[in-house]
Amino acid sequence: MGVKVDVMDDFYKLLHPCLAVFVVSASAGGRPNVMTCAWNMPVSEDPPMVAVALGEESYTGELIRESREFTVNIPGERLLKALWVCGTRSGRRADKFRLAGLTPRPARRVKPPIIDECMGHLECRLSKSVEAGECTLFIGEVLEAYASEEFFRNGVWDVRAASLPLHLGGRLFAIPSRVVKP
Ligand SMILES: Cc1cc2nc3c(=O)[nH]c(=O)nc-3n(C[C@H](O)[C@H](O)[C@H](O)COP(=O)(O)O)c2cc1C
Repeated sequence: MGVKVDVMDDFYKLLHPCLAVFVVSASAGGRPNVMTCAWNMPVSEDPPMVAVALGEESYTGELIRESREFTVNIPGERLLKALWVCGTRSGRRADKFRLAGLTPRPARRVKPPIIDECMGHLECRLSKSVEAGECTLFIGEVLEAYASEEFFRNGVWDVRAASLPLHLGGRLFAIPSRVVKP
């Protein structure tokens, strides 16, 4: 009955699409790094907290462990290529801000910068990390959150204007364009 989904490779795709964001961290010397992350979610409203699941090989995870700070940056569809670049190269070997044509801008409360080209930003301080298989769940307290008023109106994304890239799996993304009510 139905299509069998490979538990080792594909189970998580049943839970996609997920909003693809950029997680920005910084080295002790202040050099920023950016990675693409689809496994992100809010986990508490009071205090405000967000979690990102990062693979053990990611340089971003190493930097967050060291500096205990990161920013989450929400892109629009026009940054799809940059999402791909930052999700397929490691900051250990490349300056992904330069490679992807992204501009770091100082954050308000944390050392890692935000990304100027993005529409929404969360500034986070690491509260706790939890090992989960080959990933670590980094749970951060959200110190600041702000978004472009052109795309975030009346407390929600204007999905048609914002053109938010959701990751389906592999090279496939979906862009939501319809708002419905129960
Ligand atoms: C669309 C997309 C979503 C991704 N989501 C995640 C994720 O949620 N967690 C993760 O660890 N890696 C994810 N990756 C892979 C990382 O971005 C990739 O391993 C990257 O090279 C890590 O960079 P870093 O070593 O500079 O931290 C994703 C890649 C793509 C293309």
